Amino acid sequence: MKDKLLTIQNAAVEEAKKTQSEVELQQLKAKYLGRKCEVTTLMKGMAHLSVEERPVIGAYANMVKDELEMLFANRLESIRFESQKQRLMSEQLDVTLPGRRLREGHKHPITLVMEELVEIFSSLGFGVAEGPEIEKDFYNFEALNIPKDHPARDMQDTFYVSDEIVLRTHTSPVQIRTMLNQSPPVRVIAPGTVYRRDSDLTHSPMFHQIEGFLVDCRVTFGDLKGILTTFITEFFGENLGVRFRPSFFPFTEPSAEVDIQCVICGGKGCRVCGQSGWLEILGSGMIDPEVFRSVGYDADRYSGFAFGMGIERIAMLKYGVNDLRLFFENDLRFLRQF
Ligand code: PHE
Repeated sequence: MKDKLLTIQNAAVEEAKKTQSEVELQQLKAKYLGRKCEVTTLMKGMAHLSVEERPVIGAYANMVKDELEMLFANRLESIRFESQKQRLMSEQLDVTLPGRRLREGHKHPITLVMEELVEIFSSLGFGVAEGPEIEKDFYNFEALNIPKDHPARDMQDTFYVSDEIVLRTHTSPVQIRTMLNQSPPVRVIAPGTVYRRDSDLTHSPMFHQIEGFLVDCRVTFGDLKGILTTFITEFFGENLGVRFRPSFFPFTEPSAEVDIQCVICGGKGCRVCGQSGWLEILGSGMIDPEVFRSVGYDADRYSGFAFGMGIERIAMLKYGVNDLRLFFENDLRFLRQF
């Protein structure tokens, strides 16, 4: 039996030398080491051996198997090496060919708009602050005068990580964080990502906002109007009508929604502005004394204004995009236009 094993081994060595491809080698391996291979078949004959011979032959057979494994592994390596060598040698390099241009990427439109906004407000003296997207209920709601179970929470339903932790629904919690850390005067903008339970043509569960607020002695609604009108003129261009419309937010009093004359129809009325001639672009107001109280500011001494706007919304208006979801589908045909 030993002789037979040796013959098998020698045959395998010879055949392996002749293999030229991985597939051939695989077939050979199956022939010699597979379940129905020659070695296995031979081992079935072990039953006829004497008790003394069995372990000796068994050990020998195992050794042959190990050696075959090694043989095939080595052969596989040299087959791979050969084929790579061949490929490299056959590839011709023509150094006179013109180079292939790299397609240069660029910033996402939302980033572009965000940066433009930061630039405009920086030129008006605002610094930039940031806060976490996973936020405490306290900063996102309670400190902003939106107690638990208050109906105002319905407008901003969100994703709850736990009872006390939410994905922030607006950038307003950065107001609280900043004011807790810093005493007046403050003049800050806070751009960032926010989340709400919303999804349609003009709403996405993830979107971006920029918050702005200013606190000092004797800040008035006139200051708010001045800053926002300047910003709108800078961003959308000269001679665009601006309208301050009374509204409500729990953390500002009085509050105003700011509309601009429809950039599509120029104010005549169209589908985009719902025939009204006006487009709502942001929420704003004078910071509620209740908010000052929750951050420990003296509400008798200081006053301030705050505003918040959706970046996607004003990007849509600026570039004439009619579906907000386009910003997040990563279709290059869309993105390359910016
Ligand atoms: N946080 C408000 C919203 O997301 C917007 C806002 C900010 C309103 C600041 C007033 C003052 O709807």
